[in-house]
Amino acid sequence: MKRVLVEDLETVIKSKEAKVSVIGQGYIGLPTSLLIAKAGFSVYGYDINRDLIKELLLGKTRLAKEKGIKNLISELKGKKYMPTSRLEDLIGSDVIIIAVPTPKGRNGPNISMVLEALENALELVRTGGLIVVESTLPPRTFYDIIIPEVEGHGLKIGRDIFLAYCPERALPGNLLHELVNNFRIIGAIDERSGQLAKLLYSSFVKADIEITDPLTAEVVKLVENSYRDVNIAFANEVARICEVLGLDVRDVRRLSNRHPRVHMLVPGIGVGGSCLTKDPLFLFWASKENGYLPELIRNARGINSEMPHHYAMILDDIIRRMNGGSTGTIAVLGVTYKGDVPDIRESPAEPFVKDLINRGHVVKIYDPLVKFSFGGKYVSDIMEAIKDADALAFVTDHSEFKFIDLAKLRRNINKRQVILFDGRLLFDPSEAEEAGFIYVSVGRSFGRLEERMIKINHLYEI
Ligand SMILES: NC(=O)c1ccc[n+]([C@@H]2O[C@H](COP(=O)([O-])OP(=O)(O)OC[C@H]3O[C@@H](n4cnc5c(N)ncnc54)[C@H](O)[C@@H]3O)[C@@H](O)[C@H]2O)c1
Repeated sequence: MKRVLVEDLETVIKSKEAKVSVIGQGYIGLPTSLLIAKAGFSVYGYDINRDLIKELLLGKTRLAKEKGIKNLISELKGKKYMPTSRLEDLIGSDVIIIAVPTPKGRNGPNISMVLEALENALELVRTGGLIVVESTLPPRTFYDIIIPEVEGHGLKIGRDIFLAYCPERALPGNLLHELVNNFRIIGAIDERSGQLAKLLYSSFVKADIEITDPLTAEVVKLVENSYRDVNIAFANEVARICEVLGLDVRDVRRLSNRHPRVHMLVPGIGVGGSCLTKDPLFLFWASKENGYLPELIRNARGINSEMPHHYAMILDDIIRRMNGGSTGTIAVLGVTYKGDVPDIRESPAEPFVKDLINRGHVVKIYDPLVKFSFGGKYVSDIMEAIKDADALAFVTDHSEFKFIDLAKLRRNINKRQVILFDGRLLFDPSEAEEAGFIYVSVGRSFGRLEERMIKINHLYEI
């Protein structure tokens, strides 16, 4: 089925005549396809999810909240960008990019989807074509699995086929901007593969692109996310220290950050998203297998995953104390893992909600971006969701919440005492208390709670 090598790949990439296919049309594959199409190439966006392709063919997308994506789809669809669920459409591609998930399994990474996509790519790419893996790879996958797989098809890399690893590090919520403006790294074993991949990415990337070996590229991608996870864990640990020492982490962070070499992040109820929750583990597993146990990275993961359970326990304790030992109703506000992004993957809302339900509470969910409840009861109107709540728990920092009228929320709740749990440090404690809430947050002492309850009792005698 392979098209005979007629043109030089470099020429068709330079002239934008190259046929480019992207396997996987999710958070990474879709915007990448659109940017390459916008640069002038004909791009086939393939996905096994037929519903997703049907939506794209109708001009709809789950990434509609990502700035610029909908406009690019309507501008390019059917002209330069062809969404498809037919593998045949990819036959003879000059370039195939793989952007399928690499989730974590119980005891290690799961790269089965990359291997399936690679098999297809090897069948469909033309002789002398380029395959680029964008999916996150655990260390040594390129050397130990991808290269042998390609060579197993009788292809010599750098002669019959070109092969590169170009890991993606863009942040949902700002995908198009980051894909264009972030520094990129390309891993390749031969110079020509690296240069061809660089030529392709230069068609839409404005930042520097550096070529290195595949193992370095694999590790750099994982180090970036591990660095962030460890830094968030540090902020979360300081928050927990402040809770037991009777301090407010806001004061501690503000004053610490006045030091020129301290840049502490904002602590919160947990870390989510598909990358930050797995990339540090990919690094941990690879290092452990090779003889070094990276304790810091493992502990950071542990601290961050414990956060939602810690606050479910705190909320359970406070509600029971308030309700004479009985459980209550909790309105969880926001379930996506990140503000203003409709992505629930690995969201800390999931363990938080499930833990509260297991402890016997009624959990109602409101999220302006997704109708997802993790076993709670989804309510599409915020006022309806909170009206009989003993506690409001803000889990996601959606813009809609940041500027919400707390006094109006409080007036809508028909309870004498209502807790406002601030899982993202969105509110000023005194403003929340003035609005009539018992304010509880990450990184703040719970010690004087009884005192605050008495104050609120006095204010809201009904
Ligand atoms: N989402 C992010 O923020 C982000 C950031 C950087 C890197 N990454 C990495 O990029 C890769 C893709 O992640 P994503 O977030 O775009 O995933 P995603 O789940 O949003 O999209 C992946 C798509 O691939 C499709 N798919 C799965 N197997 C397939 C197959 N064999 N053939 C064709 N399509 C297939 C799925 O149906 C899905 O639509 C992952 O390795 C991830 O770690 C993601």
